Amino acid sequence: MPSTPPRLTGAARATHWRRRLVQALLPALMCAALAAPSAHADSGYRLWLRYMPVHGVWLSRYRRGATELVAGGGGPSAAPGAARAPALSRTLRAARAELVRGLSGLLGRPPRISKAVTADGAIVLGTPRSSALIRALPLDLARTGSQGYLIRSLRVHGHRTIVIAARKDIGVLYGAFAFLRLLQTRRPIEHLNILSRPKIRRRVLDFWDNLDGTVERGYAGDSIWKWNELPEYLSPRYTDFARACASVGINGVVLNNVNASPFILEPLYLAKVAALARVLRPYGIRVYLSVPFSAPITLGRLATADPLDPAVQAWWRKKVAQIYHYVPDFGGFLTKADSEGEPGPAQYGRTQAQGANLLARALAPHGGIVMWRTFVYSTNPHSEDRVKQAYDIFKPLDGKFDRNVILQNKNGPLDFQPREPFNPLFGAMPKSNEMLELEITKEYLGQQTSLVYLGPLFEEVLRADTWARGRGSTVARIIDGSLYGQRDTAIAGVANIGSDRNWCGSIFNQANWYVFGRMAWNPDASARRIAGQWVRMTFTNEPAFVEPVVRMMMHSREAAVDYMDPLGLASQMAAGTHFGPGPWVHPGKHFPPDWSSTYYSRADARGIGFDRTATGSDAVAQYAPHVAARFASLLKCPEDLLLWFHHLSWNYRLRSGRTLWDSLVRRYDRGVATVKRMRKTWSGLAKYVDPQRSRLTADFLDIQVRDAEWWRDASIAYFHSLNGLPLPRGAAPPPDSLKAYEAFCIPYVEGSPGAGPACAPADIPVPR
Ligand code: GCU
Repeated sequence: MPSTPPRLTGAARATHWRRRLVQALLPALMCAALAAPSAHADSGYRLWLRYMPVHGVWLSRYRRGATELVAGGGGPSAAPGAARAPALSRTLRAARAELVRGLSGLLGRPPRISKAVTADGAIVLGTPRSSALIRALPLDLARTGSQGYLIRSLRVHGHRTIVIAARKDIGVLYGAFAFLRLLQTRRPIEHLNILSRPKIRRRVLDFWDNLDGTVERGYAGDSIWKWNELPEYLSPRYTDFARACASVGINGVVLNNVNASPFILEPLYLAKVAALARVLRPYGIRVYLSVPFSAPITLGRLATADPLDPAVQAWWRKKVAQIYHYVPDFGGFLTKADSEGEPGPAQYGRTQAQGANLLARALAPHGGIVMWRTFVYSTNPHSEDRVKQAYDIFKPLDGKFDRNVILQNKNGPLDFQPREPFNPLFGAMPKSNEMLELEITKEYLGQQTSLVYLGPLFEEVLRADTWARGRGSTVARIIDGSLYGQRDTAIAGVANIGSDRNWCGSIFNQANWYVFGRMAWNPDASARRIAGQWVRMTFTNEPAFVEPVVRMMMHSREAAVDYMDPLGLASQMAAGTHFGPGPWVHPGKHFPPDWSSTYYSRADARGIGFDRTATGSDAVAQYAPHVAARFASLLKCPEDLLLWFHHLSWNYRLRSGRTLWDSLVRRYDRGVATVKRMRKTWSGLAKYVDPQRSRLTADFLDIQVRDAEWWRDASIAYFHSLNGLPLPRGAAPPPDSLKAYEAFCIPYVEGSPGAGPACAPADIPVPR
């Protein structure tokens, strides 16, 4: 029989608990120690939370500033009569554990765990509820809201102290990560006075993960959710995932693909969902689910899913109650309806609002929400310009959605292309809640191998001015609620995370997860600054490394636009896989018009581009008048969007004086040249990076150079076959024939359902 532990008092108890804590954290400490700089290998598993040892003057400064950790308790100023400080919540324990882990790695020794401030360099963390010390300090915590935090240098009991405080436990965890970030990026910690709170309430990762373990448009291995092992086995990866999310403030996860399987709503799976929710909860992450609109038929065996049918309404009410039984803080549903074959209310002659409200009313009593996607369009060959359809469907329904519905708009009106104008629905629905959906997984931007930092793309859309209420009506101000006073605010990013050891398929793809979280917290943040932080935390603080790498990252998205879809072209990729060029892809058996490249380029012998002005589809009219006038005017339309809005002759002269054809070719060349420069930059920096991550990135840059040239050559070969014009001086002719480019086909691409339909075995030539 185990013996009963002796009762401990006073100092003995403190020693006992300190020892217990160190024992509990030992594995983490060992990991931190083992994670010391290695010339051998780094898989990238630790993401930006590497906590590598600090050296030189910074080390002594930081060691002076972080000697002991005081979490909870109250020491001498504990409230009189308080027999015992309340036990720390799991969230506060996670915050303390992260600080121990981080400081141990950074400073080469763990901080003392203390119940009271006993020396200079104490770090006190907690909320007024968890800590009498915090309660007694003159902190204006009201301004931190329910998720923010303060980090402040103060004197406590005569000692120099740093206080990490918040109203809620989750704010303390966010503050702990923010504090560690200061050390990771070599910022001074002597005179801190930081207040930070998120501008957007729900910052959500959308996983497009299927229950069979595959990932739609995922390029980092299989799903990280091991459904067959759940609920019994909880992989430690889930906790590390949660830590990484919390470190950037992500607080929601949609676990399954928008092309949803109804099985996710079965009790068998709800038990698994509940197990994941338990792991994620201490890190402030709520779980949401994608649901198919037809679930009442497929699961409930009803004859209809009509939103006005009382039996359907009752089915959803019951189902939602069951979900909350499993997951009491369940966030709500994400829905893709009447889109790309997914069922929806239109099948019953009902509106999108009637469909959304059906789910919203079932969720409302429990505090849940519906994120209803506006990605709705028809593939009927006779339908309206694809980029106009969502606006036409949703705009007339403004004001008809329940309060707990948030309309989820993709950033552009088409589909996550390398560049699109902002989605005209932003600002057009003042009486509805609107949120932004970004794609972090690089479906159309070179997938796992290409180095494309998405910060500039995210920044471009967030700063886009809709003019919905005059100048300054940016997309950021619409989704953060400051323009129309929308109360529940949200932003989502389609996750790029999978079972690969490095989580995201490549090291630089990790930066896109990072920047999404940081911009979701603060949509006004700068993509460049965030890139700098990420580089410092992920690699090194060495300026000779940081500066060129940040420059390379900041140019990378524009490079991809240049070699894939320059001057406002869109959707020119190969059939099915969304990887590689296919400007020749015509509508056909497998391809409705708006899934083909020629639909978007409208290229022929005389010209190229989609006329979306009043002489064409008039999509410009969906924007506020000021914006519409700018896009419609050939003089004012940004050159980067020229062919999105205008059909022009190949000889049309751009502002530079060059013809459109010459400019197009030069853009393709510029894109290739930039990627070659990126490769060169990286190869000169090998000494700053461990060989494993250095090699992986170098090899992927080789692939990217090859792909950029492939895009450039194939696109020029195709457009030249239409216009017969000579290439501008100095431009090299494509090395292969158009026929060869057209025949080249990659039958299987990770994250793409099945083989590319255009691939038949005989079509596959030996790659160059
Ligand atoms: C893109 C993507 C699909 C996805 C869809 C969506 O079209 O290729 O795989 O299902 O977007 O956002 O629903």
